[in-house]
Amino acid sequence: MSSVAVVVHRDAPLLARAVAARLITRLVDVQAEYGEASVVLTGGGVGTSVLAEVAHSPAREAVDWQRLDVWWGDERYLPPGHEERNETSTRAALLDTVALDPDRVHPMPADDGAEAEQAAEAYAAALHAAARPEGGGRVPAFDVLLLGLGEDGHVASLFPGMPALDDERAVVAVRDAPKPPPIRLTLTLPTIRTAREVWVVAAGEGKAEAARLALGDAAPAQVPAARARGRDRTLWLLDRVAAAAIETAHFASQPMMGRSSGKR
Ligand code: 6PG
Repeated sequence: MSSVAVVVHRDAPLLARAVAARLITRLVDVQAEYGEASVVLTGGGVGTSVLAEVAHSPAREAVDWQRLDVWWGDERYLPPGHEERNETSTRAALLDTVALDPDRVHPMPADDGAEAEQAAEAYAAALHAAARPEGGGRVPAFDVLLLGLGEDGHVASLFPGMPALDDERAVVAVRDAPKPPPIRLTLTLPTIRTAREVWVVAAGEGKAEAARLALGDAAPAQVPAARARGRDRTLWLLDRVAAAAIETAHFASQPMMGRSSGKR
């Protein structure tokens, strides 16, 4: 598993713009090398603001949207089109403004009357149908997997102390989630860890303690964010207030912060 690099930006608006620029560049580079790319989207305010900045970026058309596979890291199990679904917010922020190939957009199932557990199995089957050897044969090898960070250290819909955190299946249903709505679908840690790059994006002082815990040397196993690692790279992309409580040892070279742990 990759070590963690932390990049800190002045404030939340700049963080969103910087992560959007980073995402566009990463997708362009992957497509240049492999002819296609895949991204896993997150819900939540910060993740959605990143997508909105991608939509507004003058560089957005550098991405070949027709050759991009879009997956979701988690979803609120609500009826189709519900305003609180991550699919709804991500489509409004970006997806409906770019020329994606609809066959390459894979939203998690909406609540159409089936049990959430059946929906989770259906998404696992969709992942398996697109599986690549690098993804362990069960799931695709995602190029970039975006995660927001909860104040309790959750990522996707993996909440501290809940069974999903240690489930080995690819996708599971979550009931009684502490963050409403209570019924959700989520990728599990084994699936998250198949991603080449995992980016945890967080802003605001409410995330400082979760970041400190997750990035601490003795990160308790019960901090889901501490266990979200990419195969090649794990990036924590924070604004200054969310980074206020973490050790400088984790900072990547960050001229603005004047600290670096990397050897040049
Ligand atoms: C969700 C998200 C969740 C979110 C974090 C951070 O469905 O709610 O997937 O994991 O990313 O709770 O949310 P904010 O960025 O809004 O704080």
